[in-house]
Amino acid sequence: MRTQVGIIGAGPAGLLLSHLLHLRGISSVVLEKRSRDYVERRVRAGVLEQGTVDTLVEAGVGERMLREGLPHHGIELRYGGAGHRIAFEKLVPGRAITVYGQQEVVKDLIAARLAAGGDVRFEVEDVAVHGLDSEPFLTFGDERLDCDVIAGCDGFHGVSRPSIPEGVLSVFERDYPFAWLGILARVAPSSDELIYARTERGFALHSMRSPSVSRFYLQVPPDARMEDWPEERIWAELKARLETVPGFSLATGEILESGITPMRSFVVEPMQYGRLYLAGDAAHIVPPTGAKGLNLAVADVRVLTEALAAYFKDGTTDLLDGYSQACLKRVWRAQHFSYWMTTLLHTFDEDDAYARRLQLSYLDYVTSSEAAATTLAENYVGLPF
Ligand code: FAD
Ligand code: DHB
Repeated sequence: MRTQVGIIGAGPAGLLLSHLLHLRGISSVVLEKRSRDYVERRVRAGVLEQGTVDTLVEAGVGERMLREGLPHHGIELRYGGAGHRIAFEKLVPGRAITVYGQQEVVKDLIAARLAAGGDVRFEVEDVAVHGLDSEPFLTFGDERLDCDVIAGCDGFHGVSRPSIPEGVLSVFERDYPFAWLGILARVAPSSDELIYARTERGFALHSMRSPSVSRFYLQVPPDARMEDWPEERIWAELKARLETVPGFSLATGEILESGITPMRSFVVEPMQYGRLYLAGDAAHIVPPTGAKGLNLAVADVRVLTEALAAYFKDGTTDLLDGYSQACLKRVWRAQHFSYWMTTLLHTFDEDDAYARRLQLSYLDYVTSSEAAATTLAENYVGLPF
C-alpha cells in the first residue's frame, strides 16, 4: 500500500492534517490505535482560540461548531473573595474564544474524512516507523504502508518521537507538583463565563460544554487517585474553592465522566527528523491552565500543510526544512503563557508566605492594569498566525 503522507494518530492533529491535505489534493492514511468510539468519547480540551475556529470554518468543518459552540468574550479570575473579569471585547476587540469540546472537533473531522472517502484506520496494532533517512514506510499488524513523508501526530505517549535516533532531539521539560482532577457533570453552568479560581486550598476551574453540561477541574496532589475522590468530596471541594464571592452558589449534578491528568511542560527540538515531522502533543505538552494544547496542535498542522503542499506541488523543500523553526516560535510563546497562568493560579506546597504575596500582587496587577490584562487576553484568545 502506498500514500503520500502516512499519519500516525487520529487526534485533532492527525485528523485535521489529513483533512487539510485532502483539500490540497494530497493523499494520506491515518493509523489510530484506539477505536473510533474511544477517540470520539475522550473528554479533554474545551477552549478553541479564534484562529482555531477560523481554521476549522475555512476548512469546511466548522458548521456544527458554529451552531453548538459557545462564543465567550471574557473570563473571570476569582481570588481573595472577589471576581475580576478579563474583558476580551475591550482588550482584544474582534477576538474571542469558543467553548466546544475537543471530542466534538474530533467527531466532526472523522465525519468529514469518511464522507470524502478518506482512509482512517482505527484499532491498528503495533505501528512502527522505518526508513526515515531514505524511503520511509510504516508497518502495522502484518501490513506495510509506503509513504513520501510521515507525520507523527500520536500524542505524548506515541511511537513517532521515540523512533528518532538518540542524540538528535533536545528535550526541555518541567514537572509540576500537582495534577488536575476533571469532571463532566449534567448540570447547567453556574456562571456564564469560565472561572479560574485561586484559593489557599488550591486552584479550581469552572468551565462548560453546553447549557446543560458543565466541566470542572480541581488542583489535586500529583499522586491523587480517583478512589480518594468520591462524588461528595469533589463537590464539597469545588464549592469550597468557587463559592468565595458573595451571592455565588455552585449547582451540582450527576457526574458523567472523571479523570486525573498530570501537569507537565515539555518540548523537543527539532520537531522533525529525516522524513518524519512531529505535530501537536507528540512534540510538545503544556499544562492545561492556558488552554493551549489543542490550539497549538492546530497551529503546527497549518504550518505542516503549507510545507507539504509546496513539496508535493513544486518539489521544494525549504518550507519542510524550516517546519520546526516555524512552529517553535509559537510553541515557546504558549509554553511561557501556560507556565505563567499555572504559576499565577495554583498553590505550590513549597511556596512560603513571601511567594504567596508575590502571586497575589501579580493577580492584582493583571486585574487592575489594562496593559497587564491585555497581555493575558491576547495570549488567551491566541496570537495571530
Ligand atoms: P492526541 O489528542 O493525544 O492524539 C494522539 C492520537 O494518537 C490519539 O488518538 C492516540 O490514541 C493515538 N496514538 C497514540 N499512540 C499511538 C500509536 N502508537 N499508534 C497509533 N496511534 C497512536 N488544549 C487546549 O487547547 N484547550 C484546552 O482547554 C485543553 N484542556 C485540556 C484538558 C485536559 C484535561 C487535557 C488532558 C488536555 C487539555 N488540552 C487542552 C490539551 C489537548 O487535549 C491536547 O493538546 C490535544 O489532544 C493534542 O492533540 P494531538 O492530536 O496532538 O494529540
Ligand atoms: C477547559 C480546559 C482548560 O484547560 C481550560 O484552561 C479551560 C477550559 C475545558 O475543558 O473546558
